[in-house]
Amino acid sequence: MKKTLLLLFVTICIQTISAQKEPVIITIKNDPTAPTINKNIYGHFAEHLGRCIYGGFFVGDTSKIPNTNGVRNDIIKALKDLKIPNLRWPGGCFADTYHWKDGIGPKEQRPTIVNQWWGGVTEDNSFGTHDFLNLCEVLGAEPYLSGNVGSGTVQEFSDWIQYANFGGKSPMSDLRKKNGRTEPWKVKFWGIGNEAWGCGGNMTAEYYANEYRKFATFMSDWNNTGGITRIASGANSNDYNWTEVLMKNIPLNMLGGVGVHHYSVIDWNKKGDAVNFSEEQYFKTMKEALKMEELVTKHAAVMDKYDPEKKVAMVVDEWGGWYDVEKDTNPGFLYQQNTIRDAVLAGATLNIFNNHADRVRMANLAQCVNVLQAVILTDKAKMILTPTYHVMQMYNVHQDAKQLPISFDSPLYTFKDQTLRAVSASASKDKNGAIHISLVNVDAKNKHKIEIDTKDLGVKNFTAQIITSSKLQDYNSFESPNKISPVTFKDFDTKKGKLEINLPPFSVLVLEGK
Ligand code: AHR
Repeated sequence: MKKTLLLLFVTICIQTISAQKEPVIITIKNDPTAPTINKNIYGHFAEHLGRCIYGGFFVGDTSKIPNTNGVRNDIIKALKDLKIPNLRWPGGCFADTYHWKDGIGPKEQRPTIVNQWWGGVTEDNSFGTHDFLNLCEVLGAEPYLSGNVGSGTVQEFSDWIQYANFGGKSPMSDLRKKNGRTEPWKVKFWGIGNEAWGCGGNMTAEYYANEYRKFATFMSDWNNTGGITRIASGANSNDYNWTEVLMKNIPLNMLGGVGVHHYSVIDWNKKGDAVNFSEEQYFKTMKEALKMEELVTKHAAVMDKYDPEKKVAMVVDEWGGWYDVEKDTNPGFLYQQNTIRDAVLAGATLNIFNNHADRVRMANLAQCVNVLQAVILTDKAKMILTPTYHVMQMYNVHQDAKQLPISFDSPLYTFKDQTLRAVSASASKDKNGAIHISLVNVDAKNKHKIEIDTKDLGVKNFTAQIITSSKLQDYNSFESPNKISPVTFKDFDTKKGKLEINLPPFSVLVLEGK
């Protein structure tokens, strides 16, 4: 026993020392056959949950807070700056309780709805289909609507599509026009239920596959939208059987995408504080986040069996860190702060998506405003951008860029007797020929030396932006909103066609080569 412990100690010491000394050699290939990184990987999610919509996005057009048709102007600006490609709405679990017709027409005549999943609050339905789809237009983002399968009907769902998308004369397009909108919005992305294995109806995979086929049959694209993409409610984390059953039982021509949900949670009964966490909790969160690599690889392998041409997209339509709610807030509102831990989590996850761009073609961070791993937090008239926001902005250079396949052996981040890959990376070339390399150091203690051969990349001059802080637990507060934001990074050198970088602990770095 003593001998084993000693051996373990020595191994850890060697790993730690070598992590500090040996450079990590990263190879980046300029491969013309590599896929394009779909911009929709950088999507967001806005659920009727806590203060995401009401008191977050939507303050109403009589509010003193500057707004456009009731939506805060500061949020609109922040999301435009982010180049938000798509926004998922109205849930989440809420989607399978939502009846869209309650959210159209004169606001004062709309019925209320009690949000049964999230805090039991009564909503007045003042934010509905028009408000959401008009917001997406303002943002220049594709809407991704989640339809109600759990407690709705096929008729209700197909009417929603007709209402949003039909250009000719029909009962639903007439209703839309009566409500003030002549032109259809042409919504492309439609989710057929949400978490059908849980809050969406507690269905078996086999039962849901049949439901899916039925709903999908009546989802017409009305021949004027350029086609709609039907997205199946996907697996919970590593439920590969769910993906297998859907892929086997749903004809491929009915299936545009298959979802996957994965949250980085330490323990569902004891999630831990969003700010006051130990290194052990940090390590465990990162372990859950890095699991995304295995999840995406294994779900993709199942999909490959039935769809070798990769026609069906993997849509990771809920991901992010999930901690205990902030003290003195409604437990059903899922409001949490956002630290450098979240920045690292976001950077590492987006690297995984970029590197699997052949199959992962859409993803939605949960959630956009005031809920879970939010990019924006609000407090009455105040608004702050979280460290996660800054990572999403730094990474938007990868949107629709050509993936550059990357390979390296990562050093290890060791905590007690456990290890994780310390370094994560992805790279792409945009349409102007600029190269972007994203590097994340998950390691909470050690910096890592990185060496990248840049000879074949056709660029010479590099600049870099980094996000890090002095403590893992640092965050932006309403009192100190800019404590964490990206800064220029200079601790690298370009020598003889090589980039040598000193990557600080718990940091996210994006290099640009031109
Ligand atoms: O994002 C919060 C909730 O997490 C969503 O409503 C649900 O789909 C998931 O379980």
